[in-house]
Amino acid sequence: MTTRIDDLAIADLTIARAVPADIACLAQLNFELMEDEAHPYPLTLEDLRARMARWIAGEYQVLLFRRGERVCGYAVWRAEDRGAYLRHFYICRDQRREGLGRAALALLRRDWLPRDLPIQLEAAIWNTDAIAFWRAVGFKDFGLTLEMTPSDPVT
Ligand SMILES: CC(C)(COP(=O)(O)OP(=O)(O)OC[C@H]1O[C@@H](n2cnc3c(N)ncnc32)[C@H](O)[C@@H]1OP(=O)(O)O)[C@@H](O)C(=O)NCCC(=O)NCCS
Repeated sequence: MTTRIDDLAIADLTIARAVPADIACLAQLNFELMEDEAHPYPLTLEDLRARMARWIAGEYQVLLFRRGERVCGYAVWRAEDRGAYLRHFYICRDQRREGLGRAALALLRRDWLPRDLPIQLEAAIWNTDAIAFWRAVGFKDFGLTLEMTPSDPVT
């Protein structure tokens, strides 16, 4: 299934379900996403490929964004008890600040995500650019994830 945008400014933006042939590309984008969000527990490309293969096989819905033939980003989501959990959302580095993130989210919501569930996601507290994006496109702050590592003492 492919979605063609008709009511937003980016006329050639489409979203399609990822297939096994997309795994290498998706793993690379996931690698870049981890770099961009300064992920504290990065995975190797090999691990990302294996995880993406698992996800595509059914653990998650993996969706590729394209502008014409050119890949411009991807999203990973699944339905959970509380809502549609948007685990990954990524726009390629060389195509940012052109409205693609907003347009892709609008398309996701219109054509791919359940209409009767809230969309929920987590953002690292230091990923201030992404937080600014989410707030700009309509998300509201909800909760705070906390962590204690095995080497942290209880104080
Ligand atoms: C966050 C991300 C998806 C935004 O995609 P994008 O296509 O550049 O976003 P848009 O062009 O649609 O931006 C829409 C609005 O969001 C806000 N915004 C987007 N990027 C921003 C940034 N870096 N800093 C501040 N505000 C930003 C702006 O208000 C922008 O509107 P404007 O350009 O008219 O000012 C993209 O930067 C990205 O993939 N980042 C790395 C991955 C990541 O962190 N994902 C989220 C994990 S929680």
